[in-house]
Amino acid sequence: MDTTYPHLPVLYQEILTAIQPRPAGRYVDCTLGAGGHALGILEASSPDGQLLGFDLDPAAIEIATERLKGFGTRAILVRASYTGLTDQLKQLNWEAVQGVILDLGVSSMQFDRPERGFSFREDAPLDMRFDPDRGRSAADLLNSLNEVELADILWRYGEERFSRRIARAILANRPVMTTRQLAELVKREYHGKAGHIHPATRTFQALRIAVNSELASLEAVLPQAVAALAGAGRLAVISFHSLEDRIVKQYFQHESQDCICPPEQPVCTCGHRASLKVITRHPLTPSGSELDTNERARSAKLRVAEKL
Ligand SMILES: C[S@@+](CC[C@H](N)C(=O)[O-])C[C@H]1O[C@@H](n2cnc3c(N)ncnc32)[C@H](O)[C@@H]1O
Repeated sequence: MDTTYPHLPVLYQEILTAIQPRPAGRYVDCTLGAGGHALGILEASSPDGQLLGFDLDPAAIEIATERLKGFGTRAILVRASYTGLTDQLKQLNWEAVQGVILDLGVSSMQFDRPERGFSFREDAPLDMRFDPDRGRSAADLLNSLNEVELADILWRYGEERFSRRIARAILANRPVMTTRQLAELVKREYHGKAGHIHPATRTFQALRIAVNSELASLEAVLPQAVAALAGAGRLAVISFHSLEDRIVKQYFQHESQDCICPPEQPVCTCGHRASLKVITRHPLTPSGSELDTNERARSAKLRVAEKL
């Protein structure tokens, strides 16, 4: 595997085992990043497997294009949201695919570039958009939403226990424009009560999720991915926090049941039919050796399901 690229794919071997790429197969990588997982899928499906890859970030598309150029037309990379999966497949005339993967969240490339505003390790403008040309930046949200809306974002997407207090402090200190300014402000509201993680971690997570509508996008793509899969095709999702993992777990549970009527109802009226078989009853997590070499893998969870 090429290691000259900055991003180590999380659960790399586990993704390949889950998807089982084979020649002539068609695969979708919804979250290309630096193309690490995509490269593995293309290699394993040689000589003629094909991959459609999505990313919103032009920098990711540029790096993945360079990295995957040796595969020629077998790799089709688009700068677009994976929420357009059904439409993209229609444009390609791909009726069904053998595997779909999602590796959610921010890449280390994005995190390590201060100007993207995802990290408070260095001072930079609060941007946080996966697509830097579209939508509202984190600074934009922080300086325009009201106190209740801000507190709601911090509570719902960061499970931040001091959400109200932090929202109030943001309003009192507007304009909040940089990563350091926000991190320091949050830290002050904690009054030294933070545990082992930096007190601003949850606030940054919450804002990133809100800026990129991450949970809504995940909810929108899961049914499209299942609809796109051929029988016995696999869907593999790597999540990095409990909000994402809960959505995937509940969706897999729901779609693996024949009847979803309330248990007290004697006769089924829902007509629901299972479309998936859950392959991972418990999510897979990185091995000790992966954790030793890749800090980002720390909270990764992989869930896999198979189309019936
Ligand atoms: C964790 S990285 C993926 C890393 C990749 N698996 C690899 O091997 O390098 C997640 C990527 O998904 C992209 N992304 C997030 N939300 C997206 C969306 N709705 N549509 C397309 N790409 C998205 C981000 O820009 C980021 O580059």
